[in-house]
Amino acid sequence: MHKQLLIFSLLVCSNLFADTAQIEAGRKIAADGNEQGAPACMTCHMQNGEGMQEEGFPHLAGMSESYIVKQLKDFQGKNRVTDVMTSLVQELKDEDMKSVAAYYASLPVISKPEKSTSQVKFEQGRLIAERGLWNKNVPACFSCHGPNAVGVGESFPPLINQGKIYLTKELQAWKTGTRKNDPGMLMKTIALKLTPKEIEAVVEYISSLSSTQTAGVK
Ligand code: HEC
Ligand code: HEC
Repeated sequence: MHKQLLIFSLLVCSNLFADTAQIEAGRKIAADGNEQGAPACMTCHMQNGEGMQEEGFPHLAGMSESYIVKQLKDFQGKNRVTDVMTSLVQELKDEDMKSVAAYYASLPVISKPEKSTSQVKFEQGRLIAERGLWNKNVPACFSCHGPNAVGVGESFPPLINQGKIYLTKELQAWKTGTRKNDPGMLMKTIALKLTPKEIEAVVEYISSLSSTQTAGVK
């Protein structure tokens, strides 16, 4: 009996150890980059993972580890083409991707809602997020991204805590086809149906929400 308990504890501890070591390796990459020449992630995403809303650098703290890895792979495979990230990830090994994802996933979410500047856009955006646009088959954003867009599981990312510039850029990327990494073209189909005014409205609303609870964790 005691022996079993000992083996069990050893297993649990070695697991914990592996996790901590991986997170530590990821913390180093975020702070200093790696030996292959990948730059420090913190320059843009910050060491605490909050990103920089005014520059369009996304928030990564507390996002699901597997979603982060998926995005890095998508940049690498050019299913998601962007100025900065597509070339940067070529210098990351698979192990580095896992470590840096484990690191950012382990951090607490930082909520910095942006102030809504238009009550009209905010209200229009709220309807799109909560109810969708049934006249053109656009489902409510919250139906996949969860109530208040805090994310659902590993595949439906939180949108809350992302800034206006980033959210707008992604919806446009699906429209123009520089981002084509969404399973079943779920997002492309939606983005194509939204007018520029509707995009402005839904972004106005979602970027003003605040929560430190996200569901897409680990
Ligand atoms: C020079 C600035 C810069 C640096 C350095 C940088 N990033 Fe990025 N990152 C961006 C930008 C800009 C985007 C948004 C890309 C887009 O427009 O779709 C992004 C997007 C991402 C995303 C997608 C997030 C999401 O919500 O889909 C991940 C994951 C990511 N970066 C991880 C990293 C990692 C890991 C590093 C370090 C190895 C890193 N980034 C370094 C600018 C940077
Ligand atoms: C049918 C399900 C579904 C609906 C409805 C939906 N989304 Fe998404 N969305 C997804 C999936 C899946 C992804 C992840 C794509 C990937 O794997 O890169 C995503 C990703 C996103 C992203 C990129 C997040 C990031 O950081 O990488 C944005 C922005 C986004 N959705 C906005 C919206 C908005 C705004 C609405 C409402 C108008 C909406 N979504 C409705 C399924 C959905």
